Amino acid sequence: MMRKILFALLFSFAAPFSWAGGGGELDSVDIDLRDREALQRGAEAFVQYCLNCHSAAYMRYSRLMQDLGIDEARLKERLLFAGDKPGDTMKVAMDPKRAKAWFGTAPPDLSVIARARGEDWLYTYLRSFYLDPERPWGVNNRIFKDVGMPHVLWRLQGLYRPVIETDENGHERIIRLEQVEAGLLSPEEYDAFVRDLVAYLVYMGEPAQFQRMQLGPWVLLYLFVLLGVLYVLKKEYWKDVH
Ligand code: HEC
Repeated sequence: MMRKILFALLFSFAAPFSWAGGGGELDSVDIDLRDREALQRGAEAFVQYCLNCHSAAYMRYSRLMQDLGIDEARLKERLLFAGDKPGDTMKVAMDPKRAKAWFGTAPPDLSVIARARGEDWLYTYLRSFYLDPERPWGVNNRIFKDVGMPHVLWRLQGLYRPVIETDENGHERIIRLEQVEAGLLSPEEYDAFVRDLVAYLVYMGEPAQFQRMQLGPWVLLYLFVLLGVLYVLKKEYWKDVH
């Protein structure tokens, strides 16, 4: 019996990791969360290229300053939009209803996206947009079919077209993407840029988890104190009975 319960517990913890990937083969990425400069670059990229549409409602700018070692002058110059204060969260100006009308789907909050999708998926996703004239934004994504997001990084990456192979059953398959127009960055520079951005997304998923985890010990402490009080009470009551 005990063993069954233990197994059930074990699997309930393991489950969230098994669906992290999915959807075609993924390129793997090495991320070092101790590399603060990479995280700073990632944070700046996030603000510049993603925050117009996606919020990060769990993330406060003041926390960024603390964790990533960004001073207030730099925060104001590089990260804060006019009118935002360091104590604010990374919210987005766009009205969700309008966004849905524009893109077909409202851009999701990205606070914990790294835990839902995994770092390899994100790294691959941001490098897998390709030209597709049938889509509203003129692009599709190799690992997110018919994605509603435009290729917001195309100026940096350049443009790619799919190289398609037909197998003996007549099924078409994209075997790789080929650059048709160069971007501002070389392919290697673009990969490094995306790696920093993904590192930032991974970091962002952690503090949210961290805050929730911090509550745990307090709940236990509370229960412990309660137990003590109840024990003393019980003793008091039974004293008169005996
Ligand atoms: C112009 C608006 C816009 C910008 C800018 C934008 N996105 Fe998106 N993004 C979207 C929309 C819309 C979707 C929903 C796509 C869908 O579900 O079809 C999306 C989806 C995503 C997803 C998939 C979420 C899921 O379903 O798991 C990720 C990851 C993502 N965006 C990351 C980014 C990152 C990183 C940036 C910055 C480089 C960025 N986005 C910039 C509009 C945007």
